Amino acid sequence: MGMYIVQGGRRIEGEFCVRGSKNASLPILAACILAEDEVVLENLPFIRDVLQTLDILKELGCRVEVYGRTAVIDSSSLKKTDIDNDTVRKMRSSILFLGALLGREKEAKLECPGGCAIGRRPIDLHLAAFERMGAIFQKEGEMLSCRAEKITGTTIHLPFPSVGATENILLLAVKAEGVTVIRNAAREPEIIALVRFLRAMGAEIYGEGTGSILVEGVKRLHGAFFPIPADRIEGGTFLCAAAMTGGELVLKGLEREQMEAVLEVLCMAGCRFFWEGSDLLRLKPPKRLVSGFAIETGPFPAFPTDMQPLVMSLLTLARGRCMISETVFEARFSQAEGLCRMGADICISGGNALIRGVETLHGAEVFAKDLRCGAALLTAALGAEGESIIHGSEYVERGYEKIEDAFSFLGGEIMLQEERKTYAQKEIEKTE
Ligand code: UD1
Repeated sequence: MGMYIVQGGRRIEGEFCVRGSKNASLPILAACILAEDEVVLENLPFIRDVLQTLDILKELGCRVEVYGRTAVIDSSSLKKTDIDNDTVRKMRSSILFLGALLGREKEAKLECPGGCAIGRRPIDLHLAAFERMGAIFQKEGEMLSCRAEKITGTTIHLPFPSVGATENILLLAVKAEGVTVIRNAAREPEIIALVRFLRAMGAEIYGEGTGSILVEGVKRLHGAFFPIPADRIEGGTFLCAAAMTGGELVLKGLEREQMEAVLEVLCMAGCRFFWEGSDLLRLKPPKRLVSGFAIETGPFPAFPTDMQPLVMSLLTLARGRCMISETVFEARFSQAEGLCRMGADICISGGNALIRGVETLHGAEVFAKDLRCGAALLTAALGAEGESIIHGSEYVERGYEKIEDAFSFLGGEIMLQEERKTYAQKEIEKTE
Protein backbone atom coordinates (compact mmCIF):
# COMPACT_ATOMS: atom_id res chain seq x y z
CA MET A 1 0.00 0.00 0.00
CA GLY A 2 1.53 3.28 -0.95
CA MET A 3 1.03 6.77 -2.25
CA TYR A 4 2.94 8.76 -4.81
CA ILE A 5 4.05 12.26 -3.93
CA VAL A 6 4.65 14.30 -7.06
CA GLN A 7 6.07 17.80 -7.45
CA GLY A 8 4.66 18.86 -10.79
CA GLY A 9 6.06 21.15 -13.44
CA ARG A 10 9.27 19.25 -14.31
CA ARG A 11 9.72 18.17 -17.91
CA ILE A 12 9.59 14.43 -18.67
CA GLU A 13 12.33 14.06 -21.25
CA GLY A 14 15.26 11.92 -22.35
CA GLU A 15 15.57 8.34 -23.58
CA PHE A 16 13.81 5.31 -22.22
CA CYS A 17 13.66 1.65 -23.10
CA VAL A 18 10.04 0.45 -22.82
CA ARG A 19 9.63 -2.67 -20.67
CA GLY A 20 7.90 -5.93 -21.59
CA SER A 21 4.16 -5.89 -22.18
CA LYS A 22 1.84 -6.75 -19.29
CA ASN A 23 -1.01 -7.83 -21.52
CA ALA A 24 1.28 -10.02 -23.65
CA SER A 25 3.02 -11.59 -20.61
CA LEU A 26 -0.11 -12.79 -18.83
CA PRO A 27 -1.60 -15.12 -21.51
CA ILE A 28 1.90 -16.30 -22.43
CA LEU A 29 2.58 -17.26 -18.80
CA ALA A 30 -0.71 -19.19 -18.68
CA ALA A 31 0.22 -20.89 -21.97
CA CYS A 32 3.43 -22.24 -20.37
CA ILE A 33 1.47 -25.04 -18.73
CA LEU A 34 0.67 -26.45 -22.18
CA ALA A 35 4.36 -27.21 -22.82
CA GLU A 36 5.67 -30.59 -21.80
CA ASP A 37 9.13 -29.23 -21.11
CA GLU A 38 11.00 -26.05 -20.23
CA VAL A 39 9.94 -22.62 -21.48
CA VAL A 40 12.27 -19.62 -21.28
CA LEU A 41 10.65 -16.17 -21.31
CA GLU A 42 12.79 -13.06 -21.65
CA ASN A 43 11.99 -9.41 -21.01
CA LEU A 44 9.23 -10.06 -18.47
CA PRO A 45 8.17 -6.86 -16.70
CA PHE A 46 8.46 -6.86 -12.89
CA ILE A 47 4.89 -5.91 -12.16
CA ARG A 48 2.44 -7.22 -9.62
CA ASP A 49 0.25 -9.06 -12.17
CA VAL A 50 3.23 -10.97 -13.56
CA LEU A 51 4.51 -11.88 -10.09
CA GLN A 52 1.06 -13.11 -9.10
CA THR A 53 0.79 -15.17 -12.28
CA LEU A 54 4.16 -16.75 -11.51
CA ASP A 55 2.75 -17.59 -8.05
CA ILE A 56 -0.22 -19.34 -9.67
CA LEU A 57 2.18 -21.39 -11.80
CA LYS A 58 4.14 -22.38 -8.67
CA GLU A 59 0.93 -23.25 -6.85
CA LEU A 60 -0.02 -25.55 -9.72
CA GLY A 61 3.28 -27.38 -9.23
CA CYS A 62 5.37 -25.85 -12.02
CA ARG A 63 9.06 -25.19 -11.43
CA VAL A 64 9.62 -21.45 -11.81
CA GLU A 65 13.07 -19.88 -11.74
CA VAL A 66 13.59 -16.17 -12.27
CA TYR A 67 16.93 -14.65 -13.35
CA GLY A 68 16.59 -10.89 -13.78
CA ARG A 69 13.94 -10.41 -16.45
CA THR A 70 14.12 -14.01 -17.59
CA ALA A 71 11.87 -16.76 -16.23
CA VAL A 72 12.37 -20.47 -16.76
CA ILE A 73 9.12 -22.36 -16.37
CA ASP A 74 8.87 -26.13 -16.38
CA SER A 75 5.33 -27.44 -16.12
CA SER A 76 6.21 -31.14 -16.47
CA SER A 77 5.74 -31.33 -12.69
CA LEU A 78 2.18 -29.91 -12.76
CA LYS A 79 0.40 -31.51 -9.81
CA LYS A 80 -3.08 -30.00 -9.69
CA THR A 81 -5.76 -28.39 -11.79
CA ASP A 82 -7.51 -26.23 -9.24
CA ILE A 83 -6.39 -22.78 -8.30
CA ASP A 84 -7.44 -21.96 -4.80
CA ASN A 85 -5.82 -18.62 -4.64
CA ASP A 86 -6.83 -15.15 -3.58
CA THR A 87 -5.01 -13.88 -6.66
CA VAL A 88 -7.64 -15.27 -8.98
CA ARG A 89 -10.27 -13.06 -7.44
CA LYS A 90 -8.09 -10.01 -7.86
CA MET A 91 -6.72 -10.59 -11.34
CA ARG A 92 -9.10 -11.05 -14.24
CA SER A 93 -6.45 -12.53 -16.53
CA SER A 94 -6.33 -15.62 -14.29
CA ILE A 95 -9.37 -16.82 -16.28
CA LEU A 96 -6.81 -17.74 -18.96
CA PHE A 97 -5.73 -20.67 -16.78
CA LEU A 98 -9.14 -22.18 -17.46
CA GLY A 99 -8.37 -22.62 -21.19
CA ALA A 100 -4.79 -23.70 -20.56
CA LEU A 101 -5.64 -26.26 -17.83
CA LEU A 102 -8.59 -27.64 -19.79
CA GLY A 103 -6.34 -27.91 -22.84
CA ARG A 104 -3.73 -29.84 -20.90
CA GLU A 105 -5.64 -31.87 -18.30
CA LYS A 106 -9.25 -31.66 -19.51
CA GLU A 107 -10.28 -30.26 -16.14
CA ALA A 108 -9.89 -27.04 -14.19
CA LYS A 109 -11.34 -25.36 -11.15
CA LEU A 110 -10.91 -21.77 -10.14
CA GLU A 111 -12.64 -18.92 -8.46
CA CYS A 112 -14.43 -16.42 -10.70
CA PRO A 113 -11.85 -13.78 -11.49
CA GLY A 114 -11.86 -10.10 -10.63
CA GLY A 115 -9.45 -7.42 -11.80
CA CYS A 116 -9.63 -3.65 -12.14
CA ALA A 117 -13.01 -2.16 -11.34
CA ILE A 118 -13.87 -1.00 -14.85
CA GLY A 119 -17.48 -1.90 -15.32
CA ARG A 120 -19.18 -5.25 -15.61
CA ARG A 121 -16.67 -7.76 -16.95
CA PRO A 122 -18.43 -11.06 -17.63
CA ILE A 123 -16.80 -14.21 -19.00
CA ASP A 124 -19.83 -15.51 -20.90
CA LEU A 125 -18.03 -15.49 -24.27
CA HIS A 126 -15.21 -17.66 -22.86
CA LEU A 127 -17.61 -20.18 -21.35
CA ALA A 128 -19.93 -20.37 -24.38
CA ALA A 129 -16.95 -21.15 -26.63
CA PHE A 130 -15.61 -23.81 -24.25
CA GLU A 131 -19.03 -25.48 -24.10
CA ARG A 132 -19.15 -25.64 -27.89
CA MET A 133 -15.77 -27.38 -27.80
CA GLY A 134 -17.04 -30.05 -25.41
CA ALA A 135 -16.50 -28.65 -21.90
CA ILE A 136 -19.06 -28.91 -19.10
CA PHE A 137 -19.26 -26.32 -16.31
CA GLN A 138 -20.51 -26.27 -12.79
CA LYS A 139 -20.66 -23.22 -10.56
CA GLU A 140 -20.67 -23.71 -6.79
CA GLY A 141 -20.77 -20.32 -5.14
CA GLU A 142 -17.86 -18.43 -6.61
CA MET A 143 -16.01 -21.60 -7.71
CA LEU A 144 -16.13 -22.57 -11.35
CA SER A 145 -15.43 -26.23 -12.20
CA CYS A 146 -14.90 -27.31 -15.72
CA ARG A 147 -14.13 -30.66 -17.36
CA ALA A 148 -14.36 -32.42 -20.70
CA GLU A 149 -14.19 -35.99 -21.99
CA LYS A 150 -12.90 -34.71 -25.27
CA ILE A 151 -12.12 -31.25 -26.62
CA THR A 152 -13.14 -30.91 -30.26
CA GLY A 153 -12.40 -28.10 -32.67
CA THR A 154 -15.33 -26.16 -34.11
CA THR A 155 -16.21 -22.76 -35.58
CA ILE A 156 -16.80 -20.06 -33.00
CA HIS A 157 -18.22 -16.71 -33.92
CA LEU A 158 -17.52 -14.15 -31.23
CA PRO A 159 -20.27 -11.51 -30.98
CA PHE A 160 -17.56 -9.05 -29.85
CA PRO A 161 -13.81 -9.41 -30.58
CA SER A 162 -12.95 -10.01 -26.93
CA VAL A 163 -9.22 -10.14 -26.27
CA GLY A 164 -9.49 -12.53 -23.32
CA ALA A 165 -11.99 -14.84 -25.03
CA THR A 166 -9.83 -15.05 -28.18
CA GLU A 167 -6.79 -15.88 -26.02
CA ASN A 168 -8.65 -18.48 -23.97
CA ILE A 169 -10.06 -20.20 -27.08
CA LEU A 170 -6.56 -20.28 -28.57
CA LEU A 171 -5.20 -21.91 -25.40
CA LEU A 172 -7.81 -24.63 -25.61
CA ALA A 173 -7.85 -25.05 -29.39
CA VAL A 174 -4.12 -25.75 -29.77
CA LYS A 175 -4.59 -29.15 -28.06
CA ALA A 176 -8.14 -29.87 -29.34
CA GLU A 177 -8.99 -32.65 -31.75
CA GLY A 178 -9.48 -31.18 -35.23
CA VAL A 179 -9.75 -27.64 -36.49
CA THR A 180 -11.05 -24.58 -34.61
CA VAL A 181 -11.92 -21.39 -36.45
CA ILE A 182 -12.42 -18.19 -34.46
CA ARG A 183 -14.49 -15.66 -36.37
CA ASN A 184 -14.52 -12.01 -35.29
CA ALA A 185 -11.37 -12.77 -33.31
CA ALA A 186 -9.56 -9.94 -31.52
CA ARG A 187 -6.69 -8.49 -33.58
CA GLU A 188 -4.71 -6.88 -30.74
CA PRO A 189 -0.90 -7.12 -30.88
CA GLU A 190 -1.05 -9.24 -27.70
CA ILE A 191 -2.98 -11.91 -29.65
CA ILE A 192 -0.21 -11.92 -32.24
CA ALA A 193 2.39 -12.31 -29.48
CA LEU A 194 0.50 -15.24 -27.93
CA VAL A 195 0.15 -16.96 -31.32
CA ARG A 196 3.85 -16.53 -32.03
CA PHE A 197 4.67 -18.06 -28.68
CA LEU A 198 2.27 -20.99 -29.16
CA ARG A 199 3.73 -21.53 -32.63
CA ALA A 200 7.23 -21.58 -31.14
CA MET A 201 5.90 -24.41 -28.91
CA GLY A 202 4.76 -26.35 -31.98
CA ALA A 203 1.16 -25.17 -32.39
CA GLU A 204 -0.43 -24.89 -35.83
CA ILE A 205 -2.18 -21.50 -36.05
CA TYR A 206 -2.97 -19.29 -39.04
CA GLY A 207 -4.48 -15.83 -39.47
CA GLU A 208 -3.46 -14.01 -36.27
CA GLY A 209 -3.88 -10.25 -36.59
CA THR A 210 -6.92 -10.78 -38.83
CA GLY A 211 -10.51 -11.29 -37.68
CA SER A 212 -10.37 -14.99 -38.54
CA ILE A 213 -7.94 -17.39 -36.87
CA LEU A 214 -7.64 -21.07 -37.74
CA VAL A 215 -6.10 -23.55 -35.30
CA GLU A 216 -5.25 -27.16 -36.09
CA GLY A 217 -5.00 -29.04 -32.82
CA VAL A 218 -1.79 -30.96 -32.10
CA LYS A 219 -1.09 -33.79 -29.63
CA ARG A 220 1.96 -32.29 -27.98
CA LEU A 221 3.52 -28.89 -27.40
CA HIS A 222 7.18 -28.55 -26.49
CA GLY A 223 9.28 -25.99 -24.64
CA ALA A 224 10.30 -22.75 -26.31
CA PHE A 225 12.28 -19.54 -25.93
CA PHE A 226 10.36 -16.29 -26.32
CA PRO A 227 11.13 -12.60 -25.71
CA ILE A 228 8.11 -10.58 -24.49
CA PRO A 229 7.50 -7.58 -26.80
CA ALA A 230 7.50 -4.00 -25.50
CA ASP A 231 4.42 -2.62 -23.76
CA ARG A 232 2.56 -0.27 -26.09
CA ILE A 233 0.48 1.08 -23.19
CA GLU A 234 3.54 1.84 -21.06
CA GLY A 235 5.02 3.54 -24.13
CA GLY A 236 1.84 5.57 -24.61
CA THR A 237 1.82 6.55 -20.92
CA PHE A 238 5.33 8.02 -21.15
CA LEU A 239 4.45 9.83 -24.38
CA CYS A 240 1.46 11.48 -22.67
CA ALA A 241 3.55 12.51 -19.67
CA ALA A 242 6.23 14.03 -21.93
CA ALA A 243 3.68 15.80 -24.13
CA MET A 244 1.92 17.24 -21.07
CA THR A 245 5.12 18.56 -19.55
CA GLY A 246 6.64 19.81 -22.82
CA GLY A 247 9.53 17.31 -22.83
CA GLU A 248 11.23 15.73 -25.83
CA LEU A 249 11.25 11.97 -25.42
CA VAL A 250 12.87 9.06 -27.23
CA LEU A 251 11.36 5.62 -26.62
CA LYS A 252 13.06 2.40 -27.62
CA GLY A 253 11.47 -0.96 -28.37
CA LEU A 254 7.98 -0.05 -29.59
CA GLU A 255 6.49 -1.48 -32.76
CA ARG A 256 5.28 1.12 -35.23
CA GLU A 257 2.03 -0.51 -36.34
CA GLN A 258 0.93 -0.98 -32.70
CA MET A 259 1.16 2.73 -31.97
CA GLU A 260 -0.70 4.19 -34.94
CA ALA A 261 -4.06 5.05 -33.35
CA VAL A 262 -2.41 6.65 -30.30
CA LEU A 263 0.13 8.62 -32.34
CA GLU A 264 -2.64 9.87 -34.63
CA VAL A 265 -4.46 11.38 -31.63
CA LEU A 266 -1.27 12.86 -30.17
CA CYS A 267 -0.47 14.37 -33.61
CA MET A 268 -3.94 15.97 -33.69
CA ALA A 269 -3.06 17.41 -30.26
CA GLY A 270 -0.01 19.07 -31.84
CA CYS A 271 2.78 16.54 -31.15
CA ARG A 272 5.23 15.51 -33.85
CA PHE A 273 6.79 12.04 -34.11
CA PHE A 274 9.83 10.67 -35.89
CA TRP A 275 10.69 7.00 -36.20
CA GLU A 276 14.45 6.62 -36.19
CA GLY A 277 15.30 3.12 -37.30
CA SER A 278 12.74 0.39 -36.75
CA ASP A 279 12.09 0.85 -33.03
CA LEU A 280 13.20 4.33 -31.91
CA LEU A 281 10.36 6.79 -31.56
CA ARG A 282 11.09 10.48 -30.96
CA LEU A 283 8.38 12.81 -29.65
CA LYS A 284 8.59 16.56 -30.13
CA PRO A 285 5.85 18.21 -28.07
CA PRO A 286 4.09 21.44 -29.07
CA LYS A 287 4.38 24.67 -27.02
CA ARG A 288 0.69 24.27 -26.13
CA LEU A 289 -1.41 21.17 -26.73
CA VAL A 290 -4.56 21.67 -28.79
CA SER A 291 -7.81 19.72 -29.08
CA GLY A 292 -10.98 20.26 -31.13
CA PHE A 293 -11.52 16.64 -32.21
CA ALA A 294 -13.34 13.51 -31.03
CA ILE A 295 -11.93 10.14 -29.94
CA GLU A 296 -13.75 6.82 -29.82
CA THR A 297 -12.19 3.78 -28.18
CA GLY A 298 -12.59 0.39 -29.87
CA PRO A 299 -10.97 -2.96 -30.52
CA PHE A 300 -7.59 -2.87 -32.32
CA PRO A 301 -6.73 -1.16 -34.66
CA ALA A 302 -9.06 1.52 -33.20
CA PHE A 303 -7.97 3.72 -30.30
CA PRO A 304 -7.17 1.47 -27.28
CA THR A 305 -9.40 1.79 -24.23
CA ASP A 306 -6.34 1.35 -21.98
CA MET A 307 -4.95 4.66 -23.31
CA GLN A 308 -8.23 6.55 -22.86
CA PRO A 309 -7.59 7.68 -19.24
CA LEU A 310 -4.07 8.82 -20.18
CA VAL A 311 -5.23 10.80 -23.18
CA MET A 312 -8.04 12.34 -21.15
CA SER A 313 -5.42 13.50 -18.71
CA LEU A 314 -3.37 15.03 -21.54
CA LEU A 315 -6.37 16.81 -23.06
CA THR A 316 -7.22 18.58 -19.82
CA LEU A 317 -4.38 20.97 -20.70
CA ALA A 318 -5.10 21.25 -24.45
CA ARG A 319 -6.60 24.43 -25.92
CA GLY A 320 -10.15 23.71 -27.12
CA ARG A 321 -12.69 20.96 -26.46
CA CYS A 322 -12.60 17.25 -27.06
CA MET A 323 -15.22 14.52 -26.82
CA ILE A 324 -14.09 11.03 -25.76
CA SER A 325 -16.51 8.13 -26.30
CA GLU A 326 -15.71 4.92 -24.42
CA THR A 327 -17.24 1.97 -26.28
CA VAL A 328 -15.28 -1.00 -24.87
CA PHE A 329 -15.91 -0.76 -21.11
CA GLU A 330 -18.58 0.94 -19.11
CA ALA A 331 -17.55 2.99 -16.06
CA ARG A 332 -14.09 3.73 -17.35
CA PHE A 333 -13.92 7.42 -16.53
CA SER A 334 -12.88 6.96 -12.89
CA GLN A 335 -9.88 9.23 -13.48
CA ALA A 336 -12.17 12.21 -14.18
CA GLU A 337 -12.93 12.86 -10.51
CA GLY A 338 -9.25 13.17 -9.58
CA LEU A 339 -8.48 15.22 -12.68
CA CYS A 340 -11.28 17.66 -11.77
CA ARG A 341 -9.81 17.97 -8.26
CA MET A 342 -6.64 19.13 -10.01
CA GLY A 343 -8.62 21.82 -11.83
CA ALA A 344 -9.66 20.00 -15.02
CA ASP A 345 -12.99 20.76 -16.69
CA ILE A 346 -14.62 17.41 -17.58
CA CYS A 347 -18.28 16.62 -18.04
CA ILE A 348 -19.34 12.96 -18.15
CA SER A 349 -22.58 11.75 -19.68
CA GLY A 350 -22.92 7.96 -19.97
CA GLY A 351 -20.10 6.70 -22.16
CA ASN A 352 -19.09 10.19 -23.31
CA ALA A 353 -16.75 12.69 -21.70
CA LEU A 354 -16.42 16.29 -22.78
CA ILE A 355 -13.06 17.81 -21.86
CA ARG A 356 -12.61 21.56 -22.01
CA GLY A 357 -8.92 22.40 -21.85
CA VAL A 358 -7.71 24.63 -19.00
CA GLU A 359 -4.53 26.75 -18.82
CA THR A 360 -3.05 24.96 -15.81
CA LEU A 361 -3.72 22.08 -13.41
CA HIS A 362 -2.86 22.39 -9.72
CA GLY A 363 -1.62 19.75 -7.30
CA ALA A 364 -4.26 17.84 -5.27
CA GLU A 365 -4.79 14.74 -3.15
CA VAL A 366 -6.41 12.10 -5.36
CA PHE A 367 -7.19 8.37 -5.42
CA ALA A 368 -6.27 5.77 -8.02
CA LYS A 369 -9.34 3.59 -8.53
CA ASP A 370 -7.84 1.24 -11.07
CA LEU A 371 -4.58 0.72 -12.92
CA ARG A 372 -4.92 3.19 -15.81
CA CYS A 373 -6.81 5.68 -13.64
CA GLY A 374 -3.74 5.73 -11.37
CA ALA A 375 -1.38 6.21 -14.31
CA ALA A 376 -3.56 9.03 -15.69
CA LEU A 377 -3.54 10.82 -12.32
CA LEU A 378 0.24 10.47 -12.05
CA THR A 379 0.65 11.91 -15.52
CA ALA A 380 -1.62 14.84 -14.69
CA ALA A 381 0.28 15.42 -11.43
CA LEU A 382 3.55 15.65 -13.38
CA GLY A 383 1.96 18.32 -15.59
CA ALA A 384 0.30 20.20 -12.70
CA GLU A 385 1.68 23.10 -10.66
CA GLY A 386 2.63 22.17 -7.10
CA GLU A 387 2.42 18.97 -5.08
CA SER A 388 0.01 16.10 -5.62
CA ILE A 389 -0.58 12.98 -3.58
CA ILE A 390 -1.91 9.96 -5.41
CA HIS A 391 -3.17 7.15 -3.18
CA GLY A 392 -3.53 3.57 -4.35
CA SER A 393 -0.07 2.70 -5.70
CA GLU A 394 -1.08 -0.98 -5.52
CA TYR A 395 -3.22 -0.47 -8.63
CA VAL A 396 -0.45 1.22 -10.58
CA GLU A 397 2.04 -1.47 -9.54
CA ARG A 398 -0.17 -4.07 -11.21
CA GLY A 399 0.90 -2.82 -14.61
CA TYR A 400 3.91 -0.49 -14.32
CA GLU A 401 7.32 -1.50 -13.09
CA LYS A 402 8.56 1.05 -10.55
CA ILE A 403 6.93 3.93 -12.37
CA GLU A 404 8.32 6.35 -9.79
CA ASP A 405 11.89 5.40 -10.73
CA ALA A 406 11.12 5.57 -14.45
CA PHE A 407 9.61 9.06 -14.20
CA SER A 408 12.42 10.22 -11.89
CA PHE A 409 14.97 8.94 -14.41
CA LEU A 410 13.21 11.05 -17.05
CA GLY A 411 13.34 14.23 -14.94
CA GLY A 412 10.13 14.03 -12.88
CA GLU A 413 10.03 14.58 -9.13
CA ILE A 414 8.10 11.67 -7.73
CA MET A 415 8.37 9.50 -4.65
CA LEU A 416 6.55 6.40 -3.48
CA GLN A 417 5.76 6.32 0.23
CA GLU A 418 4.18 3.65 2.40
CA GLU A 419 0.72 4.58 3.65
CA ARG A 420 -0.21 4.13 7.27
CA LYS A 421 -3.89 4.16 6.41
CA THR A 422 -5.03 1.83 3.70
CA TYR A 423 -6.60 3.15 0.56
CA ALA A 424 -9.90 1.53 1.58
CA GLN A 425 -9.91 3.38 4.93
CA LYS A 426 -9.30 6.70 3.17
CA GLU A 427 -12.12 6.00 0.72
CA ILE A 428 -14.51 5.22 3.59
CA GLU A 429 -13.54 8.41 5.44
CA LYS A 430 -14.11 10.38 2.25
CA THR A 431 -17.72 9.21 1.96
CA GLU A 432 -18.52 9.67 5.67
C1 UD1 B 1 -7.98 -7.09 -22.20
C2 UD1 B 1 -6.85 -6.36 -21.54
C3 UD1 B 1 -7.31 -4.99 -21.04
C4 UD1 B 1 -7.94 -4.21 -22.18
C5 UD1 B 1 -9.01 -5.03 -22.88
C6 UD1 B 1 -9.56 -4.36 -24.12
C7 UD1 B 1 -5.43 -8.09 -20.62
C8 UD1 B 1 -4.93 -8.77 -19.39
N1 UD1 B 1 -6.35 -7.13 -20.41
O1 UD1 B 1 -8.99 -7.28 -21.22
O2 UD1 B 1 -6.18 -4.29 -20.52
O3 UD1 B 1 -8.52 -3.03 -21.67
O4 UD1 B 1 -8.49 -6.31 -23.28
O5 UD1 B 1 -8.55 -4.08 -25.03
O6 UD1 B 1 -5.02 -8.35 -21.72
N2 UD1 B 1 -16.89 -9.11 -22.58
C9 UD1 B 1 -18.09 -9.77 -22.38
N3 UD1 B 1 -18.06 -11.12 -22.19
C10 UD1 B 1 -16.89 -11.83 -22.21
C11 UD1 B 1 -15.68 -11.15 -22.41
C12 UD1 B 1 -15.71 -9.78 -22.59
O7 UD1 B 1 -19.16 -9.16 -22.37
O8 UD1 B 1 -16.95 -13.07 -22.03
C13 UD1 B 1 -16.90 -7.64 -22.73
C14 UD1 B 1 -16.23 -6.96 -21.54
O9 UD1 B 1 -17.11 -6.80 -20.47
C15 UD1 B 1 -15.79 -5.66 -22.15
C16 UD1 B 1 -15.45 -6.03 -23.58
O10 UD1 B 1 -16.11 -7.27 -23.83
O11 UD1 B 1 -16.84 -4.73 -22.14
C17 UD1 B 1 -13.96 -6.16 -23.84
O12 UD1 B 1 -13.43 -7.17 -23.05
P1 UD1 B 1 -12.16 -8.02 -23.47
O13 UD1 B 1 -11.72 -7.65 -24.86
O14 UD1 B 1 -12.46 -9.44 -23.20
O15 UD1 B 1 -11.09 -7.48 -22.46
P2 UD1 B 1 -10.18 -8.32 -21.47
O16 UD1 B 1 -9.63 -9.51 -22.16
O17 UD1 B 1 -10.86 -8.48 -20.17
